[in-house]
Amino acid sequence: MATPEQRIKALNHQLESYNYQYYVLDDPQVPDSEYDRLLNELRALEKEHPDLIEATSVTQRVSGQAIDSFKQVKHEVPMLSLDNVFDAEGMSDFIERIGRRLGESASWQSNLAMSAEPKLDGVAVSITYIDGVLSVAASRGDGTTGEDITHNVKTIKNVPLKLHTEMPPGRLEVRGEVLIPEAGFQKMNAQAKKEDAKVFANPRNAAAGSLRQLDPAIAAERPLRFYAYGIGAYDSENSLPGSHYERLKWLEEIGFQISPDAQCVSGFEGCQAYYEQVQANRAQLGYGIDGVVFKVDDIELQNTLGFVARAPRWATAYKFPAQEELTTVENIEFQVGRTGAVTPVARLKPVFVAGVTVSNATLHNADEIERLDVRVGDTVFIRRAGDVIPQVVKVVIDKRPELTAPLQFPTECPICQSPLERLEGEAVTRCIAGLYCPAQRLEAIKHFVSRKAMDIVGLGDKLVDLLLDEEIIKDPADLYSLDKAVLMDLERMGEKSADNLLAAIEESKEVPLERFIYALGIREVGESTSASLVRALGNLDNIMNADLDSLLAIDDVGPIVAQHILHFFQQDHNRLVISGLLAAGITFEDTSQGIKDESKQIFTGQTWVITGSLSTGSRSEIKQRLESFGAKVTGSVSKNTDVLLAGDKAGSKLTKAQQLGVAVMTEDELVQKLETLE
Ligand code: IVH
Repeated sequence: MATPEQRIKALNHQLESYNYQYYVLDDPQVPDSEYDRLLNELRALEKEHPDLIEATSVTQRVSGQAIDSFKQVKHEVPMLSLDNVFDAEGMSDFIERIGRRLGESASWQSNLAMSAEPKLDGVAVSITYIDGVLSVAASRGDGTTGEDITHNVKTIKNVPLKLHTEMPPGRLEVRGEVLIPEAGFQKMNAQAKKEDAKVFANPRNAAAGSLRQLDPAIAAERPLRFYAYGIGAYDSENSLPGSHYERLKWLEEIGFQISPDAQCVSGFEGCQAYYEQVQANRAQLGYGIDGVVFKVDDIELQNTLGFVARAPRWATAYKFPAQEELTTVENIEFQVGRTGAVTPVARLKPVFVAGVTVSNATLHNADEIERLDVRVGDTVFIRRAGDVIPQVVKVVIDKRPELTAPLQFPTECPICQSPLERLEGEAVTRCIAGLYCPAQRLEAIKHFVSRKAMDIVGLGDKLVDLLLDEEIIKDPADLYSLDKAVLMDLERMGEKSADNLLAAIEESKEVPLERFIYALGIREVGESTSASLVRALGNLDNIMNADLDSLLAIDDVGPIVAQHILHFFQQDHNRLVISGLLAAGITFEDTSQGIKDESKQIFTGQTWVITGSLSTGSRSEIKQRLESFGAKVTGSVSKNTDVLLAGDKAGSKLTKAQQLGVAVMTEDELVQKLETLE
């Protein structure tokens, strides 16, 4: 039998290693229940033997009380900032300057090894380990003196409390960035909204705010992560590698998560290519970055180059175009969508943000208007992150014109004047008029004819607008009795366009059932749920008449979606539109053969992710194809992914799949596999 001391040691070691696998390697080795069981055992033993509690015990991440005030910490080696460049010219000048300073040729410059890393958009933190044990963590402060935030940094799950090495250096200061990944941020803000607590403008503010707390229990609740990107003070007896990139790898070995997507590249060409690659992948990274950082990889060269003022000569940030800009709100309008949701939209003085001109931003709902207290005439921060629609982050109150009043959310539909309704616990306000509301009718028909639905080519938004305005159509079924003469009477509609349009409408009559279901525009029934409904229930009649239980038995369908489906088919006017469509001659292409044939469901139970550019079809076609063989297709690679389908120029998803040991298939391999079946 082990003594309590031995058992405590063993438990700590085991738990720390599970923690590392979970948080640093993103590769959990045991279920949470097993982790919790060991943790409880450790807690119980420590309670019995308080004298045996190790300072680095996993139970000590949130230790002790809130502090009264922050102590100052002097940085032994100053924490510098970085110079910036903003374009290729600036970047190439930077490399040339280094070459000139060192008296080296152009060809030397083009081979200069540079460590390339994302510029993480968080908070710089320094963590000092004495004899391998976390001793002090500090903020950057003014670069010379920072604040002691040890109590908060210790709660960060991917920060080792003890270095993973048998021969720890006497003193090692690791520097890096504390940030909150995008997914964690969204979750945290959603929770805060629910609880009426403070909502943060962006992940960086949330990370900074968390580290500034006196009570470590608050930081412990926040999804903070630390990425190491360098070394500050260390005792020189411990010989470290002479390459910055190798040092990062060493930090990784001793227990740190290093700046993700770090690489070694050569010269200006390598730097520029890296910049472009990271920029293209920015939206998929899962954490905020505001550029990339390049550092001369050779530490000796770094020392020769030295510093100017507060920045090293051997490193630079290469910044992405700004994601936040200031502009003014010229008007606020309320739009009514397909499902009746009333969305406030800010009309902005056009402003260039992250590469595009933004003149509208959604204000989401009544809660958001109240939270922002945004008014016409206000100066606002606009933020555009990756592919995300532009957001109004906050109002600059100092610049508010005089005599403005808080914005009132309407009580009547701005289009049809029907009453608006907001259900308990929901954020959206809706017009209750359904398809009687012209705005909802318009959106429903636009959706019906759209590419992924009935795909009626040549029937664009403007034409749908016009047909409704002139009262030529009222619902989708009316499209199938359009008259050529009536069409030709419309503005800018010649005989040829009318013929083409009628031909396209005719062609759309034969359609796969899942597209038809999707085209109906049932709330929260997207392409993949439509396909699941067809797969499970087989035909339209079954789908229209399914009861709650049979809907809930379907993979993709939860209680809310099931209610939407039931509700949709209970409404007489929806049933009328459907019978009108069937009477007009809509027939369903038989795709059930491929779907129902069990022997072809070779990917059932597998989760696939698609990345890179594909040559045998659009991404959504290939997704449909995989689904017809039973696969579930999701957007991001995780430990639950079974196969990554990697097209040309696959980027970070491929790297992640390789790290997680997820099977990777090329498009050629997939084609070969399916050839025998299709
Ligand atoms: S190195 C002497 N590497 O950028 C080199 N900094 O403007 C100093 N940052 O305060 C920093 N990602 O908070 C470095 N991969 C990275 C970085 C990074 C983000 C931040 C850091 C620093 C600021 C400098």
